[in-house]
Amino acid sequence: MDCNTKQRTDIEDKLNELALQIESSIAKICDDWLDGPDKLIDAMRYSLLAGGKRIRPALVLLAGELCGGDRRIDMVPAVAIEMVHTFSLIHDDLPAMDNDDYRRGKLTNHKVFGEAMAILAGDALLAFAFELIGRYYDGDAEKRSALMTELARATGPGGMTGGQVLDMLFDGKSGTIHQAERVHLMKTAMLIRCACRLGAISADADESQLEALSEYGKNIGLAFQIVDDLLDQTGTQKNLGKRTRKDKVGGKPNYAVLADSIEVAKQRANNLITEAKKSLEVFGEDACILCQLADLIIRRKT
Ligand code: IPE
Ligand code: IPE
Ligand code: MG
Ligand code: MG
Ligand code: MG
Repeated sequence: MDCNTKQRTDIEDKLNELALQIESSIAKICDDWLDGPDKLIDAMRYSLLAGGKRIRPALVLLAGELCGGDRRIDMVPAVAIEMVHTFSLIHDDLPAMDNDDYRRGKLTNHKVFGEAMAILAGDALLAFAFELIGRYYDGDAEKRSALMTELARATGPGGMTGGQVLDMLFDGKSGTIHQAERVHLMKTAMLIRCACRLGAISADADESQLEALSEYGKNIGLAFQIVDDLLDQTGTQKNLGKRTRKDKVGGKPNYAVLADSIEVAKQRANNLITEAKKSLEVFGEDACILCQLADLIIRRKT
């Protein structure tokens, strides 16, 4: 596929444009539909509106667009997956897990609101994500149910939560790079794959389109976590908005630490991106924007 044609759009501009739309939708949904004790709503909004790259919701919208979807309709599952992701970050940062003080350039949720409120804000974001699809998705009952099932599977024991368990159980001394790759597939790639599937399902994609986008999502998702591990080793807190060089001391399954060299880890990420782009061939040049997004994952610094 040749993406160097007049169809080529600047992916960074496109993602910035989508992030602005996603943020204003998150704010509007919080204003209009979030209801509960003030302290809880404050804690939820604090992390939801703290910035972040908005990669998962952008993938919902771009996968939807590729399959002929409607951005207004796809925005509901897009915001829902960002809520689940934000819940996962709030809990990931807790003292019982990674014990981090900074996230998205700001103090972590528990540092501002206390541990109990951070746990509850995470719980409420997870539940509200499903309420959002259940009550407000503009589609028939079958599609609503399919979207909720997808999101639940990717979040639950066989997905992100299961991956976080394996991350906690990982033995920094004897753990292998193969075990790390399994952790990464579950804790990160499943949710990124899910983002692509939500967009495809919302847009009534056919089986081959759904399959292609699933494969793409899985491979960029795995590459995304490998790059996160590389950035932990080589990036700066200023760029990333979170502590760096923490995984090795914490005995974490960091791919860049476990690989023979940083170059080997980069090569693995590059190969995954090549695979991801290959799986989009069924879409022809229409998939250029997703190919560019895949390339951006490798060169990201934030
Ligand atoms: C951080 O995700 C957690 C990982 C899965 C590596 P992001 O890097 O997408 O975090 P935000 O949403 O941009 O803050
Ligand atoms: C987190 O992985 C993945 C999640 C499911 C939240 P990390 O622990 O490596 O993410 P960061 O580095 O804290 O963002
Ligand atoms: Mg973690
Ligand atoms: Mg962490
Ligand atoms: Mg990390």
